[in-house]
Amino acid sequence: MQLEHAINFDDIRTLARKRLPRIAFDFIDGGVDGEAGLARNRVAFDRYKLLPRYLVDVENRRQTVNLFGHDYASPFGISPMGIAGFFRPGADLMLARAAARFDIPYIMSSASCDSIEAAMALAPKTTWFQIYGTRDPHITLDLVRRAKALGVRVLLMTIDTPVMGKRERNVRNGFRRPMKMTPSVILQGLSRPGWTWRYLTQGGIPMMENWRPYAVEGASANAIADLYGEQTPAPAQTWSILEQVRKAWDGPLVVKGVMHPADALKCLELGANGVMVSNHGGRQLDSAPGSIDMLPAIADAVGGRMEILVDSGFRRGSDVAKALCLGAKAAFLGRPAMFGVAAAGETGACKVIDIMRQEIGLLMGQLGWINLDRAGPDSLLDLLDLRMGRN
Ligand SMILES: Cc1cc2nc3c(=O)[nH]c(=O)nc-3n(C[C@H](O)[C@H](O)[C@H](O)COP(=O)(O)O)c2cc1C
Repeated sequence: MQLEHAINFDDIRTLARKRLPRIAFDFIDGGVDGEAGLARNRVAFDRYKLLPRYLVDVENRRQTVNLFGHDYASPFGISPMGIAGFFRPGADLMLARAAARFDIPYIMSSASCDSIEAAMALAPKTTWFQIYGTRDPHITLDLVRRAKALGVRVLLMTIDTPVMGKRERNVRNGFRRPMKMTPSVILQGLSRPGWTWRYLTQGGIPMMENWRPYAVEGASANAIADLYGEQTPAPAQTWSILEQVRKAWDGPLVVKGVMHPADALKCLELGANGVMVSNHGGRQLDSAPGSIDMLPAIADAVGGRMEILVDSGFRRGSDVAKALCLGAKAAFLGRPAMFGVAAAGETGACKVIDIMRQEIGLLMGQLGWINLDRAGPDSLLDLLDLRMGRN
C-alpha cells in the first residue's frame, strides 16, 4: 500500500510496520506487561455512544480551539515522544513542521533527538515542550530555563514515570544500548533496507540533542543516552519538583500523566494551569483505566479551574469528540503520528493530521456541532441517561 491509499490510522500503522525493523516497530507499538492496558485504551471508547442532532445548519463547521490564550486549528495535537530520530532521522523536526502546517500543537519531548532550539526556530507558534523530573533537579530546571528563553508557549511536566514500565517486547527483541548486532537484528535490518540505509548513513544511534549541554564536551550519542538513562526515571521525585518548576516557569504549565482526581487537585493547588489525563499510551501501568474513563471524575474535581487535555489510544475523530463531551479541551496523538513519520517522513505526519482533521469535521456534521462549543453531555448517551435518571 502507498501512503496516498491510507485512509485511517490502521493503514498508517501497517505502512510503518513494513518500513521499520521489528525492534523499532515494537518499541513504538508496544505496551507493558501483557498489554492489557494497551487493549483497554481502545475498548474504553466503546463504552460511550454519541447522539446525533439533525436539522442544524452545519455547512460552515469550525473546529478551532483556544488553548492557553491561543487559537489552534483543531482540537488535537501530537503527544511528546522520545528518541523519534531512531525511527527516522530528523523525525522530531518533521513532526514540528507538520503540526505547524496544520496549526496544531506539537509537544516536543525533552528526550527527543533534535533540539528544542531547532524546533522553535522552525515552528515557534505550535511547538510546546515536555520535561521529566531528573535525578539532578538542576537539569530539569535548566531545560525549563531554555524553554523560557525560547518563548515556548506551553510547558508540560510528565509525572507518570517514577520507574520505567516492563516493556516486554523490548526485552524480547533485545532493545538495548549500545545496540548489539545479533543475527536477528541484522536480518531485520536487511528486510528493511530503507530504514537501515538511513540509520547507517546518518551516524547510527541518534544524538539526544537536548541533553548535549549536560554531558562532557564531545560526548558520543551513546554517552549522552547513558547520561539520560542515569538521570531518568527519578524515583525519589515528589511534588517538590513541580513546585520548583512552577517557580521557574511563568507561562502555562500542564502536568502530564495525571489519572487520579486527587492528583489533579494537587496540581491545581500547586498552580498548574492544566493536566493531561494520560496513561502514557499503556506504556507504564498495565492495569490503569483508560484515560477517557477518568475524564468525568477529573473534570468534576477541578470544576473548570484548569484546562484538561487527554491522550492514550485516540485513533478516531469520534474518540476526540467523546473526550470533548467528557470535559477535555483537546486530545493528543502518540503512536499514529510516529507511525506516520516513520512511514513517510513529514508527508506521513501530515497525512495523519489530515485524516484526524477530516474525521473530526465529519463527526461535527453528524453531531450537529457548528463549532466545538457544542460539545457536551447533550451529545453523549451515557451522560444524558444519567441526567434523565436523576431528574
Ligand atoms: C515511542 C514513544 C515515545 C514516548 N516518549 C515519551 C516521552 O518522552 N515523554 C512523555 O511524556 N511521553 C512519552 N510517550 C507517551 C506519549 O506522550 C503519549 O502519552 C502516548 O503515546 C499516547 O498514547 P497513544 O500512543 O496511544 O496515542 C511516548 C510514547 C511513544 C509511543
